[in-house]
Amino acid sequence: MTAVPIAPAPASSLLEVRDLRTFFELESGVVRAVDGVSFALDRGRVLGLVGESGCGKTMTALSLMRLVPRPGRIVGGQVWLEGRDLLALPEREMRAVRGEGMAMIFQEPMTSLNPVFTVGSQIAEAIRLHRRVSRRAAWARAVELLDEVGMPDPVRRAREYPHRLSGGMCQRVMIAIAISCEPHVLIADEPTTALDVTIQAEILDLLRTLRERHGMALLLITHDLGVVAEQADEVAIMYAGRIVEHASVLEIFERPLHPYTQALLRSMPGVGSERRDRLETIPGQVPDLLRLPSGCHFRDRCPKAISRCAEEDPALEEKAARHTAACIRV
Ligand SMILES: Nc1ncnc2c1ncn2[C@@H]1O[C@H](COP(=O)(O)OP(=O)(O)OP(=O)(O)O)[C@@H](O)[C@H]1O
Ligand code: SF4
Ligand SMILES: [Mg+2]
Repeated sequence: MTAVPIAPAPASSLLEVRDLRTFFELESGVVRAVDGVSFALDRGRVLGLVGESGCGKTMTALSLMRLVPRPGRIVGGQVWLEGRDLLALPEREMRAVRGEGMAMIFQEPMTSLNPVFTVGSQIAEAIRLHRRVSRRAAWARAVELLDEVGMPDPVRRAREYPHRLSGGMCQRVMIAIAISCEPHVLIADEPTTALDVTIQAEILDLLRTLRERHGMALLLITHDLGVVAEQADEVAIMYAGRIVEHASVLEIFERPLHPYTQALLRSMPGVGSERRDRLETIPGQVPDLLRLPSGCHFRDRCPKAISRCAEEDPALEEKAARHTAACIRV
């Protein structure tokens, strides 16, 4: 008798990611850029995804959108959005999901816009990809969207080319494109890193306003725990392609369990009861994903490592109510 495969249960959350794995199969070895990532996101909530450079934040986001660049490949897992596993959809249906179901603000605002088209036409194009509306109506909507994202003089700005706009304005255009089809989930990949401090605050305020107005869920990718503290409900800490701790923002700041999270918090200005004159940096190198240590991947940087950490690869487990961590010493 042939076994009938049991279909996985659809998720109850708006977005549920289960055991997502995205690898780069290179001549020198397999880079496990995303190595078994799972999380859920409910309507209107904000999840911060945090970690040092190269830990797999962008690849996680691109995997959700099914936009992983070659030679990267999603090799396993499920991405449930509103009851459908996106990884099982035909590409044609996935194109409809991008924009309407889930949209992404990419890490490089300046290079994500096409230099040869006006910003208005790029927003209008995004609208016409999903909606059957006239060019005129799409243009009018593009101007409205520019207004909504706080672009001064939107009628005139719509006719500008990207190089005429500042970094902050380009980011507003990118946000207008991302929200043009009213997605239920918005992914913002380091939305403020390239901008100066005052503009950063404005963009974060804008994201908050839009999220509240449209009821979107937000996956906020950043290496900045300060941004997470102000904007997110929950936080997932990534290290070397995996989530090593996940809890509410309050829990993470008050009771960080994983030694990596504790080190990240120590490296953050203004955290903790004592004032510090200097920032503590996390000792050791961001790991080369081709040369990860055996056992716990954080072992060679961990101040709490013991010999058993070289043998056991700790699983992400619930250590307190709604608080998971991957460490054998917690
Ligand atoms: N084109 C590629 N070829 C091989 N490996 C890649 C490629 N792109 C990414 N990777 C691997 O995927 C890992 C995760 O990259 P990713 O861009 O997701 O990191 P990130 O957390 O977004 O970092 P950053 O904070 O710098 O944006 C990298 O460490 C790298 O090893
Ligand atoms: S398992 Fe060991 S090495 Fe890994 S974080 Fe915990 S104490 Fe550190
Ligand atoms: Mg990135």
